[in-house]
Amino acid sequence: MSMIVRRLSRAATAGLVAAAALTAAAHSAEAADTLGSAAAGQGRYFGTAVAASHLGESDYAATLDREFSSVTPENEMKWDATEPSRGSFTFTSADRIVDHAQSQGMDVRGHTLVWHSQLPSWVSPLGAQDLRTAMNAHINGLMGHYKGEIHSWDVVNEAFQDGGSGTRRSSPFQDKLGDGFIEEAFRTARAADPAAKLCYNDYNTDGVNAKSNAVYDMVKDFKSRGVPIDCVGFQSHFNSNSPVPSDYRHNLQRFADLGVDVQITELDIEGSGSAQAADYTKVVEACLAVSRCTGMTVWGVTDKYSWRSGGTPLLFDGDYNEKPAYGAVLSALGGSGGPGDPGDPGDPGDGASCTATYTRTADWSSGYNGQVTITAGAEPISSWTATVTLPAQQSVSSLWNGTPTWSGNVMTVRPSWNGTLAAGASTSFGFTAAKNGSDAAPTVGTCTAS
Ligand code: XIL
Repeated sequence: MSMIVRRLSRAATAGLVAAAALTAAAHSAEAADTLGSAAAGQGRYFGTAVAASHLGESDYAATLDREFSSVTPENEMKWDATEPSRGSFTFTSADRIVDHAQSQGMDVRGHTLVWHSQLPSWVSPLGAQDLRTAMNAHINGLMGHYKGEIHSWDVVNEAFQDGGSGTRRSSPFQDKLGDGFIEEAFRTARAADPAAKLCYNDYNTDGVNAKSNAVYDMVKDFKSRGVPIDCVGFQSHFNSNSPVPSDYRHNLQRFADLGVDVQITELDIEGSGSAQAADYTKVVEACLAVSRCTGMTVWGVTDKYSWRSGGTPLLFDGDYNEKPAYGAVLSALGGSGGPGDPGDPGDPGDGASCTATYTRTADWSSGYNGQVTITAGAEPISSWTATVTLPAQQSVSSLWNGTPTWSGNVMTVRPSWNGTLAAGASTSFGFTAAKNGSDAAPTVGTCTAS
C-alpha cells in the first residue's frame, strides 16, 4: 500500500523534475567552472556516489550540488537496503537521495539490482525456482518504484570471476539459475522501465583482459540475439596494484563498437598530488575520446567518506578542498583553466572577453601620450588584442607595455608581458604620438580576448 502511494507521488513530481533539469542545463551553458557544467559542455554527465546519511552535512551537500550533475546511491538501492525481508520494500534512504538529486536537476543512476554482495540472508537459501521468482520480483519492485526516474540501471553487477579465466563468478544466481540469469534479469528490467538504460557493471574490466573479454563476448551475444542491453559500466577503482590500463580507451571503444553506451561508474584512484591528477586526466581523456562514453561517476564526494578513505582516492579532500586531481579533471573536461577555457591561449573563444578604453594622459603642442586600458570580462583571460586607428597625419614614435603591428594607420596591439588577467582585472599600454598637424583622438576598436 505505501509503495503504491509513493509511486503515485513520485510520478506526480515528474513535471517539476523536468523543469529543474532544464534550469540546470541552462545554467551550465553559462559557466563551465564546475565538473558538471564542464562535462555538460562535452555532452557528458559527471556524477558521484552519494550516501543519504551525509546529505545533512552542509559542506557535503554544497559540494555535491555545486559540482555534480548525476548521483548514484552508494548503498541505498542495494538488495539488503531495499528488500531486507522478502516482499517488503524500504525506500526511505534511496528516496532521500533521489528527491535531493531531482531538486537539483541531477540525473540518478540506479545501483544495483542483481549482485552477489550486500544480499540479505533470506536470498541465498532459496531453491532455483523460488530464487528466479524473487529476483524478478526484486527487479520489478525497485524499477517500478522509480519508473521514469532513473537514467541508467546497473541491472547485474560483478557476475564474472576475477583473474585469468574469464568464467562466471559463483553466486546464488549463477549457481542455481546458470548463465541465463543475466539475460533474464535484463529482460525483466526492460519490461519494468522501458525508459531506463540497462547496464552491465563490473571491475577489473577496464583494460583488455580475460575478464573483460568474457564480458565483451556476453554483450556481443546479447546484441546479436536482441537481449536488451544498452550500456556497460566500468567501475574503474584504481590503485598501484590496479593502475589505469594503457589500453583503457581502446577497451571502452571496442565495447562501444558493439552498439552499447559505455559509462565510467565508480571511479576512484588512490594516491595524491600530481601523479593522482595525471591518472584522473587519463581516465577523463579516454572517456571523451569515445563518443559513446556518455558520462563518468566518481565513487564519492570527499576522501573522508570514501570506501577506501586510506587511499585518498577522490577529488575533494576531507575538508572539501579541491585536490590537484580536481583541477586536472576540470581542465580535461574543458572547464576553467584548461583546454576549452577562455583563458587557454590554445583555445580562444567561448566566454573570454575584454573591453578597451582610451585616454590622453599627456599633451603638448606637437604630440601627446595615449593610454589604452584593457579590462577582462567575466572570465579570466590569458591574452588580448586591441586595435587603435590613428588620424592619417599622426605617427607613433614609441609604445610600452604592448607589442604593436601596423597596417597603414591601424595598429594592432597585443600584450608584451601583461596578457593574463583575472576576471574584471585591467592592464594598459601606452604610446607617444606625433600630431603632425592633427589633434584628433585615435579610435579604439573592439578588444578581443582568449
Ligand atoms: C561499496 C560501498 O562504497 C561501501 O560503502 C560498501 O560498504 C560496500 O560497497 N563495487 C560496487 C559498489 O559495485 O557497490 C561497491 O560499493 C564498491 C565496489
